[in-house]
Amino acid sequence: MIYLDNGATSFPKPGGMIEVMDDCMMNYCGNPGRSGHRMSMKTGEMVYRARKQVAALFHIKDPSRLIFTGNTTESLNLALRGFLHEGDHVVTTAMEHNSVLRPLKALEGWGVSHTIVSADREGHVTSQSISRAIGENTALIVVAGASNVTGTIMPLEEIGKIAVERHIPLLVDGAQCAGCMDLDVERLGISMLAFPGHKGLMGPLGTGGLYVGENIDLQPLLYGGTGTASKSRLQPLDYPEGFEAGTINAPGIIGLGYSASILQKIGVEAISCYERELIRQFDEAVQNMEQVDLYGPVPEEKTGISLFNIRGVGCEDVAEQLSRRFGIAVRGGYHCAGLAHKMIGTWDQGAVRLSVGPFNTRKDIKKAVDAVWKISGQAGSL
Ligand code: ALA
Repeated sequence: MIYLDNGATSFPKPGGMIEVMDDCMMNYCGNPGRSGHRMSMKTGEMVYRARKQVAALFHIKDPSRLIFTGNTTESLNLALRGFLHEGDHVVTTAMEHNSVLRPLKALEGWGVSHTIVSADREGHVTSQSISRAIGENTALIVVAGASNVTGTIMPLEEIGKIAVERHIPLLVDGAQCAGCMDLDVERLGISMLAFPGHKGLMGPLGTGGLYVGENIDLQPLLYGGTGTASKSRLQPLDYPEGFEAGTINAPGIIGLGYSASILQKIGVEAISCYERELIRQFDEAVQNMEQVDLYGPVPEEKTGISLFNIRGVGCEDVAEQLSRRFGIAVRGGYHCAGLAHKMIGTWDQGAVRLSVGPFNTRKDIKKAVDAVWKISGQAGSL
């Protein structure tokens, strides 16, 4: 199969990662931080190493401020539920994934309000509109670093400046940009960064994380065993264990640490340049096809995503045909981000998302272009 669904999860994973996870599970996987024997200690050391490897990617000075979670949704829920209080107001954008918009909707029940800032037809949100939406009780700004629908890159640097100037913490949803864009939490003024392990970082599914800056007073999402202060009924709030209650996914985290170190060696910038060229190849080829509507900005303004429709064929049908007839994996529909589709004008029909990864080649893109051409040719003759 030609895998062009890296926005959902990256595939394949870097060579060597499986071996590292296999070694952990076959040779030493004790429960880290729970016992004093060799296996538990070794697992704890390897998890700490992974924490340092992932922290390095985001220029996080203190790796203990990086909490491992199961996925970005868990990270975002921890950030939002752990930080916000009754009476707080949040500024967010219409390009967010449901993993931001649904928790915020639910938090209305706690008395937390929010303002959703609009985007233009290409998915751009301006820092000025974010600034205008800030009110007296705004406690948090939440933005995706890049849209999972169009790939549109958000003006994080400008938003970070506003956040710092107005003393409002900035929470970034890094689901579609971690590993595809340089995310320096210090330089960008990011107070919290939620990210997946299994997308741009090329780690295993079931891994993710949340960076929490020193300026953030966070409550845990999960209460329970931390391997520390066992006689106390109160949850320890030490980083990171106070926020990682229960047994963690040690083999997954160790695999993630390995893939993050590979990414560090190759360089995020080199990967993003390569992916942009693949997307440029696709966009330039399909934008001249009469039956194809291409959405989102130019390649310079987005990550490795192309969003399109073929007139006369439903997006789910296109995705299904690409898979069945051509062996090409993409994602059709609304991508868990209905509002974003409203902004770009695809509320009624959804769209087909093609998302590249570092293992894709120009040949893959050529095959995808040819397949779109064939499907659109048939649509035209209907
Ligand atoms: N949020 C992921 C996507 O955009 C799963 O496909």
